[in-house]
Amino acid sequence: MDLDQSIAKHYAHGALETAILGALAAAGKNPEALTSADLAPVDEFHIGGRQATKDLSAHLDLPRGARVLDVGSGLGGPSRYFSQERGWQVEGIDLTPEYVDVATGLSRRVGLADATAYRVASASALPFGDRTFDGAYMLHVGMNIADKKTAFAEVHRVLKPGGLFAIYDVMLEGNGDFTYPVPWSAGPETNFIASAETYRKDLAAAGFSIVKERNRRDFALESFAQMRQRQAAGGPPAPGLQIAMGPTAPQKVANMASGVQRGLFAPVEIISRA
Ligand SMILES: C[S@@+](CC[C@H](N)C(=O)[O-])C[C@H]1O[C@@H](n2cnc3c(N)ncnc32)[C@H](O)[C@@H]1O
Repeated sequence: MDLDQSIAKHYAHGALETAILGALAAAGKNPEALTSADLAPVDEFHIGGRQATKDLSAHLDLPRGARVLDVGSGLGGPSRYFSQERGWQVEGIDLTPEYVDVATGLSRRVGLADATAYRVASASALPFGDRTFDGAYMLHVGMNIADKKTAFAEVHRVLKPGGLFAIYDVMLEGNGDFTYPVPWSAGPETNFIASAETYRKDLAAAGFSIVKERNRRDFALESFAQMRQRQAAGGPPAPGLQIAMGPTAPQKVANMASGVQRGLFAPVEIISRA
């Protein structure tokens, strides 16, 4: 199995759309009348969920109708938010075929099939012509990308000159033991977490200029605290990312929260321009 297949296998669930719709129905939502907001607890696969997507959006000054690339689009939460709230035409690529199918199915359910499109592809070989997109973004994907320089060069190639590229990834901050599983990897074979300095270097090598950078450690700690409060409040478990993360979700979340608390890694935004 090559690396791309190992990563797709890590994320694959087997019956994810059925599981998501079942959990939403159990929480009182009508699967035939869902909105993008109903899906937000289950389809924003990164620290801080929808709030993190909104926060990143503030850095992306792109007009309605802009053509935007989502690198590693996952279940499609960010793309549906951006197409609905900002009026962008978003095209997502992702290594995991099941996620591409689920993203496509969920967009259709919430009436965003014309504003979003998803296909199976690698960030390192983008299936688009040069200078296609007005902007691009990537949320919690770089931790799985071994050769970030090549991926960034690909994003640079498909962006129009001056196009913005927003990254929100978990980046390495310090030294210490890495405890697996984490949401993006079951072991070191698929974990390519890197420091913000490495990102800046690889972005520059691909031709990008850095516009701004923001460490989101405090935001992450606050979002973990809110999660713990919800759990402590009791009651039936609300639909959340545990559906996509499967049976090892509690360990994945605990190891991720501990890594941020110990200063080993933190989510960071880096905005750059082609
Ligand atoms: C943690 S999920 C984040 C999904 C989405 N960006 C979000 O924030 O909701 C990571 C995603 O990146 C995808 N991925 C990992 N490496 C990739 C690569 N080299 N090219 C394309 N997609 C990749 C995985 O298949 C998975 O869907």
